Amino acid sequence: MTSHRIALIPGDGIGIEVLPAATAVLDAVGRRHGFTLGYDTFDWSCERYEREGAMMPADGLDRVRHHDAILLGAVGRPGVPDHVSLWGLLIPIRRTFRQYVNLRPITTLDGVAGPLRDAEGVDLVVVRENVEGEYSEIGGRLNRGFPEEMAVQESVFTRAGVTRVLDYAFELAAGRRGVLTSATKSNGIIHTMPFWDELVRERALPAVSWNQEHIDALAAKVVLRPREFDVIVASNLFGDILSDLAAAVAGGIGLAPAANLNPERDFPSMFEPVHGSAPDIAGTGVANPVGALWSAAMMLDHLGHAEAGDEVRAAFRAVLAETPVRTPDLGGGATTKEFTAEVLNRLGTAG
Ligand code: NAI
Ligand code: MG
Repeated sequence: MTSHRIALIPGDGIGIEVLPAATAVLDAVGRRHGFTLGYDTFDWSCERYEREGAMMPADGLDRVRHHDAILLGAVGRPGVPDHVSLWGLLIPIRRTFRQYVNLRPITTLDGVAGPLRDAEGVDLVVVRENVEGEYSEIGGRLNRGFPEEMAVQESVFTRAGVTRVLDYAFELAAGRRGVLTSATKSNGIIHTMPFWDELVRERALPAVSWNQEHIDALAAKVVLRPREFDVIVASNLFGDILSDLAAAVAGGIGLAPAANLNPERDFPSMFEPVHGSAPDIAGTGVANPVGALWSAAMMLDHLGHAEAGDEVRAAFRAVLAETPVRTPDLGGGATTKEFTAEVLNRLGTAG
């Protein structure tokens, strides 16, 4: 029997509430598909930061380096600045483990009414560059407190970094509907974005029909004509914004999954729902676990169990399409546990 070692980082707030849903469902499909998952849980979080002054221990990355994958809930806590949780945990994991692809599938689900009158049949994937671009450490602040105070932040786009994420996106598109849209802004950002556009032309695959759109117009089109998109490839910042927007179009942030992939598999990849720690509902037991379940399904795909991943996706889709059971963010009255129990039921292993 195949067995995988998973590092679990529940984090803060509803991260702690949705990860048990994910592991329950993973264990259930594992039993049916002949693999087991062993978990090591790490308490790395803003709560730990408040207690010990760091999101994770100094040797934290080494403790998860040899796991097969990392499953993360969410981090963030009122009173702890958001850049602490991002730069103290998520960004070191993404960069040290070369998780340069951030994959965010966005699909409308039957039974979930999104904010648009007609968004049925949306099925797109945002491929976000995940380790360079606008999220850089290069820059600084000068003259703090004086009228001439200033801040400078440099974007970093490398040929190697852009090329590898474009190659991933083109190949993904070739295996889907064969359509790729590149998010750009080469009219206003006159050095990095024309470079990005050049590399897109260079790496394009003949089997893929592609075009480029300025990010502002693209944002509008994702709202107005979301069905037209298949794969959207974007820089770190553009991809971040666009994927939250597209997730909202498809029905809500609580549903959206993400994978931080190291395609070469030299290091573990990390799977996490797109949502944050939701302090406004944390502790009430009503967080929507679908984003976490879907992320867990993507982890199964990555571990070579795509059939089991499909089964998880089919199970939560069936609950949403065929029953009234749903969490309050989707207009229902179910708790996280009740919804998860219904998903486990569909998997034939009520737990
Ligand atoms: P958020 O995603 O935590 O919440 C935004 C809104 O959506 C809230 O009203 C929340 O109740 C609702 N929501 C989110 N997920 C939900 C779910 N699964 N079920 C039901 N409702 C859900 O984003 P926000 O408020 O901007 O950030 C809160 C904290 O989370 C901050 O500290 C932020 O830095 C952190 N954060 C962490 C992320 C991560 O760990 N990857 C990602 C985004 C935010
Ligand atoms: Mg975001």
